[in-house]
Amino acid sequence: MARSSSNGNIRIVLTEPQPGASDQLQAQLAEHLGMERNGGNIDVVAVAHDGLEAAQMAAQLRPDVILLDEEMPGMSGYEAVSLISLAAPDVASVLMVNESRVERGDITARALRAGARAVVTPSTRPEALAELLVELSELQMGRSRPEYELVTNPAKMPVTISITGAKGGIGKSFTSVNLAVSFARKYPGQTVLIDFYGQYGNVPLMLDLHPNYNIGELTAFAGELDSTIIETHLSTHQESGLKVLAGVPGSAGVGGRLPEEQEIPFLADLIGLLRRQYRYVFFDVPPLIGRASDYVYSRSQFIVLVSALMDLSAVRDTATLYQQLTASRIAPERIKLVVSRYARSDELSVEDLEQASGAKVALTIPDDPQAAISSINEGSPAVTSRPNSPVARGIGELVGILENAMAAERQRRQPV
Ligand SMILES: Nc1ncnc2c1ncn2[C@@H]1O[C@H](COP(=O)(O)OP(=O)(O)O)[C@@H](O)[C@H]1O
Ligand SMILES: [Mg+2]
Repeated sequence: MARSSSNGNIRIVLTEPQPGASDQLQAQLAEHLGMERNGGNIDVVAVAHDGLEAAQMAAQLRPDVILLDEEMPGMSGYEAVSLISLAAPDVASVLMVNESRVERGDITARALRAGARAVVTPSTRPEALAELLVELSELQMGRSRPEYELVTNPAKMPVTISITGAKGGIGKSFTSVNLAVSFARKYPGQTVLIDFYGQYGNVPLMLDLHPNYNIGELTAFAGELDSTIIETHLSTHQESGLKVLAGVPGSAGVGGRLPEEQEIPFLADLIGLLRRQYRYVFFDVPPLIGRASDYVYSRSQFIVLVSALMDLSAVRDTATLYQQLTASRIAPERIKLVVSRYARSDELSVEDLEQASGAKVALTIPDDPQAAISSINEGSPAVTSRPNSPVARGIGELVGILENAMAAERQRRQPV
């Protein structure tokens, strides 16, 4: 397939219903494009004489841009444009329409519906037309933007993972931190952890971080967030390269810093921007903070639901949360039920939890106070400081479970 000329010229196909009708236009375009793109120029790769020929040339010669008339012999410009948009969607069609007709708004709408990129008239100034051609020919460069890969390559699909649970003190933050650190080590520079639970400052403590900023301070930029602002509010865990957005000490979520109606739009911007920058976005989500946590769940591809088996209320509350999640249309296969701090002496069994919740337990992470407590005290995650401890192995299994689930999802999205 012929693509843009290697010399950087804009390749265009013109149409001329009468022989020689485009000569003046060609001269004008050559003049303007020659002048404006220092040295750059325009290649008129073909001139079509009727609608069918125009569509054929677009589909077969693949110019950057094709300029068509609304009225052409044999086949109207609209029909030709709609065929081109099917056969050669990369070719930008520009439809030339008479002034008197373009003033009727529905003409432009009709051209756009057919697939035209722009509508011009015979009195469009040549320099404006030249500018338009340059702009349209540059659309192809979008393929080299990192975002192009993000949208087309399922392997680059960003994944948001929430770690949550119905109770405090069951190992949610411990799991979040160790999971996020594991991903950060495997996928350098691609992992961020949002501490949605500043309550006890556990996440920074577990990583020995002393954040300068937290999510509460970030809310001052609500409505005007961008990647740079977010980046300045993140802390870096040097050992793993994990980025962390610290929570607001003493409170949950955005720390009540925003009026209720601004909370979700803020989170939407935050998640949207983080997903452009990071492939793995982890959230350590506290129990019961209502709309904000519901929103985070709704934006999560996976939810790690952490439970404990130490008493009946832990099991009952987990079952309730699981049912709330599925009731709010979160597909059961997106929820990974994990028993944390699992011990033989537990009051209840895995079967009790499965029966109460109606969900399968994906994994049990052993109770391992030795590794858990000393790694927290040192501020050095168990997965790196004690990789062979039972609890670190448990986290390793969770990494595998999530990676398998992601691979299955990628498979589903692979173009057939
Ligand atoms: N697998 C484990 N084995 C033993 N102790 C654990 C384990 N996971 C967490 N802990 C302990 O539980 C306490 C609470 O953990 P944390 O992750 O802060 O809970 P949560 O975020 O659910 O409130 C921590 O002090 C930690 O020492
Ligand atoms: Mg916690």
